[in-house]
Amino acid sequence: MRKFLIAGNWKMNGGAEFTSDLLSAIKTRKAVISEDVDVLVCPTFVSLSMAIDQLHESDILVGAQNMHEAEKGAYTGEVSASMLVEAGCSYVLLGHSERRAYFHEDDALVREKLQTALSHDLAPIVCVGELLVQRKENRHFEVVKSQTLAAFSGLNEEQAVQVVVAYEPVWAIGTGETASPEQAQEMHAFIRTILSEQFGEAARAIRILYGGSMKPTNAHDLLSQPDVDGGLIGGASLDAESFVGIVETAEALSISAGKVDSQLSPEEE
Ligand code: PGA
Repeated sequence: MRKFLIAGNWKMNGGAEFTSDLLSAIKTRKAVISEDVDVLVCPTFVSLSMAIDQLHESDILVGAQNMHEAEKGAYTGEVSASMLVEAGCSYVLLGHSERRAYFHEDDALVREKLQTALSHDLAPIVCVGELLVQRKENRHFEVVKSQTLAAFSGLNEEQAVQVVVAYEPVWAIGTGETASPEQAQEMHAFIRTILSEQFGEAARAIRILYGGSMKPTNAHDLLSQPDVDGGLIGGASLDAESFVGIVETAEALSISAGKVDSQLSPEEE
């Protein structure tokens, strides 16, 4: 079974006090997390160590929002994969649309970062997704296909299953507008088909998250789609009640027989 992953992308919000307060509120509302769901928070770089300390005895994982592709060196202002691992991070977001749009990250760079992350056993969450204009021109499949193929190029099956994909239609990020459950499922199934053409049955073990204005009120309908394996949540992850609400929705769905059946991995069938 593919385990749900509910990941909070805090973006450039909150320093030490905010991090401490939000994590305390999450832990108060949700002391125990079901084994069927992975929960991840991605605070800013400066709050990572603090979050890792504060979550020491909790099941909540910590990830970074970005990293540099090089091992080390004269790259002022940057952070490497080994630094993130040493700090205690287990995941890293790569190629978020905001990084692509504002920091000129292209597919080649995202691929390079992804390979560096994998070589450090840091699980990459690679973001793909089309702009509104591309959807209107009916180019969304073509765009997502080329982003996905570029990110996974050169990987073997063993590496591919370590990667998490986040489908984030750019027009749904921070806008309050969400892809319908049908639109999400259609794209997630398409991504899985592309991955199975590259990696065969192993593609069934790759988690594909949905991101773009996910909140407690729409989480159930999105997460109950067979190929939606979790969420990458921005705005709603900054509020403990909303974030925990989404985690609890995933927990409830993961024990429902239908979801479990549709998510059997090749080894378990
Ligand atoms: P949002 O952001 O949930 O605020 O739309 C999602 C993301 O950018 O990862």
